Amino acid sequence: MTAPLRPGDPTIVNVALGERAYDLVIGRGVIASLGARARALRPGAKAAIVTDDIVARLHLEAAEAGLAAGRVASSRVVIGAGEGAKSYAGLERICEALIAARLERGDLVVALGGGVVGDLAGFAAAIVRRGLDYIQVPTTLLAQVDSAVGGKTAINSSQGKNLIGAFHQPRLVLADTAMLDTLPMRQFRAGYAEVVKYALLGDAGFFAWLDANVKDVFAGIGAGGGGGAAREHAIATSCRMKAAIVARDERESGERALLNLGHTFGHALEAAAGFSDRLLHGEAVAIGIALAADFSVRRGVLAPETAARAIGHLGRAGLPVRIEEVAGDWPDADALLDLMAQDKKVKRGKLNLILLRDIGHAYMAPDVDPAPLRAFLVEKLKPQ
Ligand SMILES: NC(=O)c1ccc[n+]([C@@H]2O[C@H](COP(=O)([O-])OP(=O)(O)OC[C@H]3O[C@@H](n4cnc5c(N)ncnc54)[C@H](O)[C@@H]3O)[C@@H](O)[C@H]2O)c1
Ligand SMILES: [Zn+2]
Repeated sequence: MTAPLRPGDPTIVNVALGERAYDLVIGRGVIASLGARARALRPGAKAAIVTDDIVARLHLEAAEAGLAAGRVASSRVVIGAGEGAKSYAGLERICEALIAARLERGDLVVALGGGVVGDLAGFAAAIVRRGLDYIQVPTTLLAQVDSAVGGKTAINSSQGKNLIGAFHQPRLVLADTAMLDTLPMRQFRAGYAEVVKYALLGDAGFFAWLDANVKDVFAGIGAGGGGGAAREHAIATSCRMKAAIVARDERESGERALLNLGHTFGHALEAAAGFSDRLLHGEAVAIGIALAADFSVRRGVLAPETAARAIGHLGRAGLPVRIEEVAGDWPDADALLDLMAQDKKVKRGKLNLILLRDIGHAYMAPDVDPAPLRAFLVEKLKPQ
């Protein structure tokens, strides 16, 4: 599925997973159709909306009105905003609230929020009554292009992020691009790092388009809203790429790993920053992509001027691309290497890194020796 039929029509992208296939519906104002779409999926079902307190203030009314317009009865579960909710305690609260709301098999959980709400509500839906259906209504750019699509759900362990979870695909993803009007610029930018990731890993034409249209993609953010076609095009193109990759490799046995471009470096930096507001996930990914590009140059597989184009674009979008741009102290190269090794992409002491051969062409470099990587990190940690 591709472009909208008429201006104003949503873009529909299908995630082709056989009997678990579902649509991503992308467009301004699509929240109004939530109830009609839920009813079409599960006639007679009731819904419980899970959201956080910030999103509740801004968008819960619209979601409830959307459900009511389709004559779907709903209840609400509101949690505190922030990564801290992705805990055993947060999960327990949601599971108990869903049971108390008398949700039964065949009813629907609606995850209204960013990646935190989506991961948490999706995981609760996976386990309450051994599996409830759920709808993702992502409200951050990161969630619209990434976390709401693909069925990965999780909470954090004290030993690491996203270590407890399940694959549980949603039945529908409703991405209302107008909901991003209220998103703080810093959060939008962080999500934009994932958009650039898609372009770099597999679509040179999309990268060129982003390079020419980045201003329009950001239009309206932090300025009272009103973003238009360019925002929607960037989101839909990203979603198409993620949907295609997930359809080919749902459980990440191969190609889906390419989506980790910038993430092995990025996760190490996030962990070093204590998963705090000092460094948002998308900011860590931007620095991680820049490091992956530079390391690809070092390995002789990427032309330096191509790396400079990729990194320059991230920088122009206002994203950090060097470690030193993030204030405060960083651990040394050995500690960062340890954190990289704790990431899930390690096999027998050697690292699997996603590197770049060109814009639009990422590949998995297996068995990366830690020694040259360590030397590279030592250099990158020196003020430049
Ligand atoms: N499941 C996956 O495949 C996957 C992929 C990537 C990231 N993730 C997870 O996603 C999480 C990060 O998601 P995120 O960046 O969306 O963070 P988030 O959910 O914490 O949202 C960021 C902040 O924005 C607020 N917010 C959300 N929507 C808003 C809106 N429309 N207007 C104003 N404020 C709004 C939230 O309340 C929160 O304070 C992490 O926990 C990460 O592990 C999961
Ligand atoms: Zn990411």
